[in-house]
Amino acid sequence: MANLPFATTLTVFGILTAITITLFLIDFALPFLRPSKIVRYLHSTASKQPAWALVTGASDGIGRALSHELASRGFNVVLHGRNPPKLERVQRDLQAAFPRRDFRSLVADATHCITAPDMFRDIVARVSDLHLTVLINNAGGTPPGTAFKALDSYSHKDITDTISLNATFPTMLINALLPVLGGRNGGPALVVTVGSLSDGGMPLVAAYGASKAYLMMFAKGLAMETHIAGRNELTVQHMRIGTVTGVSHSDKPPTTFEPDASTVARAILARVGCGRTSVVPYWGHALQSLFADYAPRWVKDRVLEDTMAKLRDENLKGE
Ligand SMILES: NC(=O)c1ccc[n+]([C@@H]2O[C@H](COP(=O)([O-])OP(=O)(O)OC[C@H]3O[C@@H](n4cnc5c(N)ncnc54)[C@H](OP(=O)(O)O)[C@@H]3O)[C@@H](O)[C@H]2O)c1
Repeated sequence: MANLPFATTLTVFGILTAITITLFLIDFALPFLRPSKIVRYLHSTASKQPAWALVTGASDGIGRALSHELASRGFNVVLHGRNPPKLERVQRDLQAAFPRRDFRSLVADATHCITAPDMFRDIVARVSDLHLTVLINNAGGTPPGTAFKALDSYSHKDITDTISLNATFPTMLINALLPVLGGRNGGPALVVTVGSLSDGGMPLVAAYGASKAYLMMFAKGLAMETHIAGRNELTVQHMRIGTVTGVSHSDKPPTTFEPDASTVARAILARVGCGRTSVVPYWGHALQSLFADYAPRWVKDRVLEDTMAKLRDENLKGE
């Protein structure tokens, strides 16, 4: 009899734990179970102007794969980059693969966004004849020669370039294109920002990770701003990415936790409209982010420091 209250307490505790774990698993799985809403943005104007998507950093890696996936889903695509011959090659390949789609190239170096603010007026002018419904802010990364290096080896330009490319340029581009997205009647429009799991703070890419943290918070704030403004047809989503291969700096064979750019591009489009403003679109990366979210700080920091130091050493050997 004396044991009964203890047994009851244990049972209640067990039931509550089971409910908590079940709710947690449902919450984790939900974004992966909802069907993609990307077709919502494939709408034409009354005058039958077809939908266009603009992808920044479309000349390589995830951006090129996203452009391919969007074209396969019926979108015409504006390919942004900074290297005209490289962009031309990608445009030619896409046009050959999707002869019924239209493609257009847009050259603008993101690192010039502060010194040459007119670039945004120019970008708007160059897409003003298009019915733009999707903007994917994918261009990003670390300046040449800075990956896996400590901050004290960065030049002044390395620092401003990192922040411009990953934070300032997307902010200014979204600011410039918001008025034209979705068409004159404010039809459904989508803004995606591409972030990184390094946004929780990561050694040897500290400025890059911090810029991605900015981008995530910016997207969250912007999503709420659109609600306040009653612009409910505009969706803003931030996609947090882990390590990817098949990109400019890696051609390793893909693995579960290091998928290729096409897998990640498909995952990004699959999570559109999943109900989360910020989401880890690829399931393998989502499992990794669970570790980052729930491991004790000292365990997580130790793993990150060891992993990044190893990558730095491998990188140095490669150099
Ligand atoms: N790959 C990863 O492991 C990983 C992990 C987490 C997050 N991400 C994020 O995913 C996004 C795509 O990365 P990725 O790996 O696909 O990179 P990538 O293969 O290096 O491609 C980057 C794209 O951005 C363009 N770009 C770079 N600097 C630019 C500048 N200053 N102005 C205009 N365009 C510029 C590149 O143009 P060029 O072709 O001329 O270089 C290229 O088209 C980035 O935002 C990155 O931070 C990637």
